[in-house]
Amino acid sequence: MTAFLTWNKDWLLGIDALDSQHKVLADRLNRLVVECRHTGAAPTEKNGHSRDLLARLFQELYITTKEHFSFEEALMCAEDYPGLAAHAREHVMLIAELKSTFVNGVKEGRCKLDPEFLQALKSWLIAHVTHSDREFAEFLKEKNRSVPATSQSEH
Ligand SMILES: [Fe+2]
Repeated sequence: MTAFLTWNKDWLLGIDALDSQHKVLADRLNRLVVECRHTGAAPTEKNGHSRDLLARLFQELYITTKEHFSFEEALMCAEDYPGLAAHAREHVMLIAELKSTFVNGVKEGRCKLDPEFLQALKSWLIAHVTHSDREFAEFLKEKNRSVPATSQSEH
């Protein structure tokens, strides 16, 4: 089966810590989508296990995304990145959307994840990494700053 989000070299920023975290985010999203394809619209005894798994996978994606954004923002702060406030606003909006999706549906098993939501999430991630994160990466390169590797991506 084709992956929902295929890793693309256009995503690479040349900063190992960020690149490896972005790969983990793509993996988490792909796993969630695979599970969504197996889960019915209404909770039943039969698909209850699948719904629990879906909720867990969604929560993992949420936590990994939050940790990644915190890592990026801390780095931006440490580097006096002038685009920090605008960048952090993008992060806050996505986190709010993920949280409301989880609370309003996934957590209680009331609804399955809307394919349009998943598509929008994928588009958001690609646009964010290839534009906003790339701007920050260019800023770091201009400053000739290297970023230490992190274990954050190993969750
Ligand atoms: Fe970012």
